[in-house]
Amino acid sequence: MLKTIVLIGMMGSGKTSVGKELAKNLNLNFIDSDQEIEKKCKISIPSIFEKKGEDYFRKIEEKICFKLIDGKPKILSLGGGAFINFKIRKEIKKNGVSFWISTNLENIYDRLLQSKNKRPMLDYNNLKKSIKDIYDSRKEIYKKADYTIRTKSDNKKNIVKKIIENL
Ligand code: S3P
Repeated sequence: MLKTIVLIGMMGSGKTSVGKELAKNLNLNFIDSDQEIEKKCKISIPSIFEKKGEDYFRKIEEKICFKLIDGKPKILSLGGGAFINFKIRKEIKKNGVSFWISTNLENIYDRLLQSKNKRPMLDYNNLKKSIKDIYDSRKEIYKKADYTIRTKSDNKKNIVKKIIENL
């Protein structure tokens, strides 16, 4: 396999757990862009948003994603907003293959409820609406991924199987 496999989609759609399982199956390294950003900045994503703001976060995200997409083939899970950046999308088209993990919003809601305050883009007082608004504003762009993997369940093994079938 020559290209990095890039998993994109909403927060809470399971990109990280699917990515880890996929990496195990294909014997490749797994990297999560948010973890790399936290390593570089030495603070958590919510703290970056709080102290420096979203624009700063998006700049770091762009830089890190470029580096990760260009390196050796691997499984790369991107933060939910990264694919919205045109330059990142273009880089993925050139050097990667993208999969949109399209999970239903109820599942996303259940997962995000459990990870309260880890996602600064969300309004936890109005979580359902917040998820729906972000999804509606992004779905046309997520659709630009090379492949869409639709899933209603949490079964990461099934999702991994579907991804591998498309490779
Ligand atoms: C974001 C998603 C998060 C993280 C940041 C912004 C977004 O990543 O990058 O909080 O804009 O959708 P996950 O998709 O891994 O939660």
